[in-house]
Amino acid sequence: MATKAAISENPQKSGRFSIDETIGRDSAVLSGQLQVLFEKLFSPTSKKSLRRFSSREAASLLGVTDSYVRHIATQEDEVTSEKSATGKRTFSLDEVNTIRQVLGRTKPAYLPGRRETDHLQVIAVTNFKGGSGKTTTAIHLAQYLALRGYRVLALDLDPQASMSAMLGFQPEFDVNDNETLYGAIRYDANRRPVTEIVRQTYFPGLDLIPGNLELHEFEHDTPRALAARDSADTDMFFMRVGAALLDIQDDYDVVVIDCPPTLGFLTLSALCAATSVLITVHPQMLDVASMNQFLSMTSDLLNVVKGAGGNLDYDWMGYLITRYEPNDGPQAQIVAFLRSLFGDRVLTSMMVKSTAVSDAGLSKQTIYEAGRETMHRQTYDRAVESMDNVNSEVEALIRKAWGRS
Ligand SMILES: Nc1ncnc2c1ncn2[C@@H]1O[C@H](COP(=O)(O)OP(=O)(O)OP(=O)(O)O)[C@@H](O)[C@H]1O
Ligand SMILES: [Mg+2]
Repeated sequence: MATKAAISENPQKSGRFSIDETIGRDSAVLSGQLQVLFEKLFSPTSKKSLRRFSSREAASLLGVTDSYVRHIATQEDEVTSEKSATGKRTFSLDEVNTIRQVLGRTKPAYLPGRRETDHLQVIAVTNFKGGSGKTTTAIHLAQYLALRGYRVLALDLDPQASMSAMLGFQPEFDVNDNETLYGAIRYDANRRPVTEIVRQTYFPGLDLIPGNLELHEFEHDTPRALAARDSADTDMFFMRVGAALLDIQDDYDVVVIDCPPTLGFLTLSALCAATSVLITVHPQMLDVASMNQFLSMTSDLLNVVKGAGGNLDYDWMGYLITRYEPNDGPQAQIVAFLRSLFGDRVLTSMMVKSTAVSDAGLSKQTIYEAGRETMHRQTYDRAVESMDNVNSEVEALIRKAWGRS
């Protein structure tokens, strides 16, 4: 992978050394090589694009039969599709959405988005335990909803920006200064409207506010802003994410926030902006012990925020079991333990651990993007089924918040 010229000099060979310079050199070498690698893998001319869907898949996304989709494709002029050499029809997501509009004309229930009186759903996916499955959950939920015709905004609040990378934007190359949410929530004169920061993605119905390292700045700026605060002239830190979302709320049905694995000002502000919270839990004892600390600290901090005027009214909260291994006895015991403590706040569906998810992740894809033909069929089907079950349970919670069944 690395070229010979790129190897970073090893200062340990000559005795004691200064780590800042070494890390700096390593970073420069790594950054250069990553750029080369990404250009090879994802060259500017090979931008990410969404695959086409079979009529069976389109039917499932629309909630109608396969034959009905094929019927509409031949009967309605505005519905387009492609036919393969073997006569099989395929549809882009835009084409699926056109069918949805056609169906919605006679039966509005086919159009799932919120009505005028329904409030924007803002779902914070959180837990300060690293690797608990936040990004995997957030990206699959966002895509699941977009595939079903909701208008979705993915908000990447993690400086590591894995969700942005999954959506085709490399945080270190494609996202510049003031192009993350930090640009819209910062305290100084460089603040800019969030409308200038939102990006369209290759995925119809799914927009993104990308993340990168500059999000960290909010954690440094906030204590200074709190110390300097002498009047109510600026929004407190916990109102800032919500205030930014207000400017674009009419454009979306659901916002999915991928929170960082920390409990800083950014996460607290995201929790205040949220209408619901999904806490991802990997069912292992160390993770559950860490979650215990997370819950206790979150509760204390949010209590302070509430005292300062923060709004903490939620539609729902849920614990989602992630990377579950059905044949692992201790995991099953921990799940039973959590259910006995938290009752139906633990989602019934669990995200099962699957090589289909991790393999697709290697090429920055979700299992919804990777086609069935790219993997072992049974593995793929099981993974999609598990992910669909989780996401449809969340969809039902969203619909319940809008007073629908
Ligand atoms: N259902 C699954 N099956 C297999 N692997 C999974 C599954 N869910 C997540 N993973 C893998 O586990 C790792 C951690 O998941 P993920 O990145 O979603 O966690 P995270 O909470 O966002 O981590 P961080 O705290 O670093 O942001 C990733 O490598 C991901 O591919
Ligand atoms: Mg993550």
